[in-house]
Amino acid sequence: MTDKNNRRSQNWYGKLDKDGFIHRSWMKNQGFPDHAFDGRPIIGICNTWSELTPCNSGLRTLAEGVKRRVWEAGGFPVEFPVMSLGETQMKPTAMLFRNLLAMDVEESIRAYGIDGVVLLGGCDKTTPGQLMGAASVDLPTIVVSSGPMLNGKYKGKDIGSGTDVWKFSEDVRAGEMTLQDFMAAESGMSRSAGVCMTMGTASTMASLVEAMGLSLPTNAALPAVDARRMALAHLTGKRIVEMVDEDLRLSKVLAKANFENAILANAAVGGSTNAVVHLLALAGRAEIDLTLKDFEIGGEIPLLVNCMPSGKYLMEDFCYAGGVPAVLAQLHDKLRPAHTVMGKDISSYFDGAEIYNDDVIRPIDNPVRLAAGLRVLRGNLAPGGAIIKPSAASEHLLEHEGTAYVFENIEDMKANIDRPDLPVDENTILVLKGCGPKGYPGMPEVGNMPIPQVLVEKGVRDMVRVSDGRMSGTAFGTVVLHVTPESNAGGTLGLVKTGDRIQLSAKNGVLALLVSEAELEERRKTWLPEESVYSRGYAKLYIDHVLQADRGADLDFLVGKDTRLVTRESH
Ligand code: FES
Repeated sequence: MTDKNNRRSQNWYGKLDKDGFIHRSWMKNQGFPDHAFDGRPIIGICNTWSELTPCNSGLRTLAEGVKRRVWEAGGFPVEFPVMSLGETQMKPTAMLFRNLLAMDVEESIRAYGIDGVVLLGGCDKTTPGQLMGAASVDLPTIVVSSGPMLNGKYKGKDIGSGTDVWKFSEDVRAGEMTLQDFMAAESGMSRSAGVCMTMGTASTMASLVEAMGLSLPTNAALPAVDARRMALAHLTGKRIVEMVDEDLRLSKVLAKANFENAILANAAVGGSTNAVVHLLALAGRAEIDLTLKDFEIGGEIPLLVNCMPSGKYLMEDFCYAGGVPAVLAQLHDKLRPAHTVMGKDISSYFDGAEIYNDDVIRPIDNPVRLAAGLRVLRGNLAPGGAIIKPSAASEHLLEHEGTAYVFENIEDMKANIDRPDLPVDENTILVLKGCGPKGYPGMPEVGNMPIPQVLVEKGVRDMVRVSDGRMSGTAFGTVVLHVTPESNAGGTLGLVKTGDRIQLSAKNGVLALLVSEAELEERRKTWLPEESVYSRGYAKLYIDHVLQADRGADLDFLVGKDTRLVTRESH
């Protein structure tokens, strides 16, 4: 137990000198009484609410829920804003700013006199960015997620954010949906506060946070507007005060086993490929030895959650079917013993959990798909690795050899993908360069490039695509992502030419460019990276310091932690 006189916050508010006066007095202008500074745990509520991050629009309300219970439990809650990352609103890509959010979170937590922190996030990059920053300071930390939107509705059917947008867009291009219907569907898609209601990156990360024991049980799937989410926020406020008393820091919860459980859960829920870069980056902050190879343990795990984009239901259905606890219960003999923010083993998160709809959450002996976890690919085209999500791919393309058609960058792809004379067929492998962490910059979600118009018209809906970029967690297709090293960092991807043969074997984990080493050496002699248009500011810092995807695309100087107390004052 932490002695109240030894709390971190007492270095700000417990001093009977000029500095203590200044710290307390200015806080009192908000009406806080003397006893708020009597040594009770001060709980930071780190909020990514923003009107420009619509997925996090419910977080102000949830912050009030947390605060209520923090006061009730004898703590003192203080809410503070950090940078918010609105996935659908930011250019060039929210991922460029994940590390900036992590820096903001880290330095805010370190600089202020708080003893524990509640992370309020939801939209894709907000959860990993907050956790990365918090891990580098290492206070008692717990997550409350936004929760998913209610199911989308259009013409009497459920529609899912992201997944159905890609489908509708292809249908319009194929002449199978009118533009009027397309425009009408957008209002029915997003009907309430909350994150994408498919198993996109946001719900994936919330599910993994729960499987890692970093939130209370049921945090991932409760709809954003379900009153039980407010109750969960309330209970989280109680728990963070206890965690401060128990000195239950993030480093006492997080171990390799938590990451392994996240990898297993990610396979079972059909989670986003983005989880790979986020887990690798978080492990780097927490100083846990996690590599791409560790993701292979998910390879044989069956797909149990029948949610878009890998299945047909949505997060609201997933919640009512039992949510993450029901999935973990199915995986019970595969999960590793692991600590949680509750101070108990992860098994306490799924004790007695049941499935209430066995088409939405399948029992392990009747999965949606066998061996559905992400596959790690290697070969001369990706010496540092690449990944593919079989559950979102076409089975017949997972073992494929074809001729490459190369787009040198995103502008080349956009300008030419729908050319009527594009020399491609359904066996062509589309290759896109310049979309890695340094190249774009920020590793955007463009790896699932559209099917060329000439093939759409022939009814082709999927083909093998290879890039150093990422893919939205809501997207689908036979898409090879995160090719490492990226083209702009001198990777083999940069040397691929239209007409080269490429071999993909998801089963054997192979991604090979069938070109001789001697020929590649020749090409290397004349290869030059694309010149970046970013010569200043954060983007320049990012390009100069970002690590490759196999290290989570964190900035090299942010890996690890610094848990020292800052003692210098400005006054
Ligand atoms: Fe924010 Fe999907 S865009 S969660």
